[in-house]
Amino acid sequence: MQTTQPHSLTARRNGPLRGRARVPGDKSTSIRALILGALTVGETHITGLLEGEDVLNTAQTLRALGAKLEQRGGGEWRVRGVGVGGFAEPAAALDFGNSGTGCRLMLGAVGGCPVTAAFDGDASLRTRPMRRVLDPLERIGARTLASADGRLPLTLAGARDPIPIVYEPQVASAQLKSAVLLAGLTAPGETVVIEREATRDHTEKMLTHFGAQVRVEAHGDNGRRITLVGQPELAPAPIVVPADPSSAAFPLIAALLTPGSEVILDGVMLNPLRTGLLTTLAEMGASIAYLERRTEGGEEVADILVRASALRGVEVPAARAPSMIDEYPVLAVAAAFAEGTTVMRGLKELRVKESDRLAATAALLRNNGVEVEIDGDDLIVQGRGRAPGGGLVATHMDHRIAMSALIMGLASERPVKIDDGGFIATSFPGFVELMSSLGADVS
Ligand code: S3P
Repeated sequence: MQTTQPHSLTARRNGPLRGRARVPGDKSTSIRALILGALTVGETHITGLLEGEDVLNTAQTLRALGAKLEQRGGGEWRVRGVGVGGFAEPAAALDFGNSGTGCRLMLGAVGGCPVTAAFDGDASLRTRPMRRVLDPLERIGARTLASADGRLPLTLAGARDPIPIVYEPQVASAQLKSAVLLAGLTAPGETVVIEREATRDHTEKMLTHFGAQVRVEAHGDNGRRITLVGQPELAPAPIVVPADPSSAAFPLIAALLTPGSEVILDGVMLNPLRTGLLTTLAEMGASIAYLERRTEGGEEVADILVRASALRGVEVPAARAPSMIDEYPVLAVAAAFAEGTTVMRGLKELRVKESDRLAATAALLRNNGVEVEIDGDDLIVQGRGRAPGGGLVATHMDHRIAMSALIMGLASERPVKIDDGGFIATSFPGFVELMSSLGADVS
């Protein structure tokens, strides 16, 4: 929940960015760690948790459902779970604030339990589609009691006798997949999700880590078939949350675009289903090196060394979208400073993020003198190696639009201002301080 008044921020050119920093923990991993920890019997110890608003809101909802969560400082948490199917009925509506991931995953987790809960969120979350999740949950046996048009606020009565289903999502969405798997935890037998295009696999990996039986098989060219054996007893296991690659994208691209920069970003997760941006930037000619590749908390991580680079425009195929879905706004900023045209294909899902991110990204660039076009589901940016800047960007309650606009301001000829920086705290608390520590001028 955002409690403070809107506050504008301005980013302007300064000298090169230099130094070393660690961005906060991965949002996807953090939210899953709390939810799965709450479904174990015993105490789960988490380190490196992202203490952003989206995660804190999810933590509150888990407390309302009976789990005990203790914040010990510096990203260290202890979660005492209620066991699979053990949620208690909450006394008040569960408020997810801005968090689509928290809300959709919890719809799944609650949908498999015999409790009724009201789900709500902020004005942005209230516009986002929940029908995609409610459909399979209703097949499992949950009932939607009240909902305007498949949106929040809604009330969900979880399944009393959950049925294992075989489900083939119509959109590539890790949130949707995860909701079905979490609901399937309480069902007897095997719950199957068949993905045409593989999406981030943190839920599957973490379920296995906590002792569930999960089989993952290839399906078609890019897809996966995921089978979960229901009614496991989940056992606590320590979780180490790596640095969020989607947050690392902001200082990384700022360093690429600011002449003379050399920055190291520590411990960034390199899960192959999250690295589409790094692949794309390499194609654009970015100087990025991976130091100290290692495994932490079951994920490959590395310290990323990035140096200012001359970029060229590229075509980004639609098939890459799931592995970089949150990175398009800031990639579009990088594309404006590249030489030549960048075409980003297949961005339909961007329309249902925290804002209509396709429209908001195009507006961000246009307001700052960059030639940009939306053609169907594609975004086309004319890179000129420079951008005038000088715009005021409407962030539409969207943290990634806010941060992308500020990165634009660090590299453009005139400063860029955003109407509200408050939502940055949903995923990247300390963003301004971290950027300033590298030499950026954001105030
Ligand atoms: C997420 C999945 C993606 C992504 C979001 C986090 C997750 O959403 O945009 O920020 O943690 O599962 P979709 O599943 O809607 O693509």
